[in-house]
Amino acid sequence: MQNNPIGVFDSGVGGTSIWKEIHKLLPLENTIYLADSANAPYGKKSPEDILRLSIKNTELLLQHNCKIIVVACNTATTNAITYLRETYTNVSFIGIEPAIKPAVLQSNSKTVGVLATKGTLSSSLFHSTVKNHAEGIKIIEKEGEGLVPLIESGKATSVEAKDLLKTFLEPMLEQNIDYLVLGCTHYPYLIPVLKELLPAHVNIIDSGEAVARQTKAILERENLLNRGNVASSHKFYTNADVSILRSFLKGAKATVNVAYLDF
Ligand code: SIN
Repeated sequence: MQNNPIGVFDSGVGGTSIWKEIHKLLPLENTIYLADSANAPYGKKSPEDILRLSIKNTELLLQHNCKIIVVACNTATTNAITYLRETYTNVSFIGIEPAIKPAVLQSNSKTVGVLATKGTLSSSLFHSTVKNHAEGIKIIEKEGEGLVPLIESGKATSVEAKDLLKTFLEPMLEQNIDYLVLGCTHYPYLIPVLKELLPAHVNIIDSGEAVARQTKAILERENLLNRGNVASSHKFYTNADVSILRSFLKGAKATVNVAYLDF
């Protein structure tokens, strides 16, 4: 069981930002990643559709004997993780929630921006996180409409992405945010452009490292850490353009196997 892979799924290529953190912290682990790019973006879909797609991805990962599943998509986490945990009780699920808590704890201006999809911002899990952890803090939410399709088509650092981001950031900056929470696993790929647009005092927070630490803690607790000394294997499946997924893995410190799969 320790040799079984960690399963990771996302609506597309964005979850590779999470996979990289997991691999950095847990280099001995085998992994399988599903990029459901044919159905991206999830953020604009109905809660029922997001649940249906999350079930489909989970069942495929379970067929591959995954020992733990990382839902590397904020929209799928906020809409489906409760159901997945209640239904597939033999496996642990790690979800990605926007890093509201650390931003709130560190904000001096008491004003925090959150950039996420409609599906995440309208979910009850997001509302309860804000209610429980952001008392006395002004949260400026912005739906990153249009960003995921640009990132999925390899245009994360394009002029179009920059212009779109400007319109989302302006109202946040007018209200003096000092933390920007990236509430979508695709958005870390926008960091180079965000750094150009944001003043130096505005900090960017995403959930990647925290998710990797949590994955490790759960594997330790369940005695599922791979302690073997064989080079780890990493399989990436996409139901869209293989070359785009491959481009997001350039520079990965691992030998990755990227293939098309109709799922
Ligand atoms: C999307 O598919 O719309 C974005 C995925 C996410 O919320 O991380």
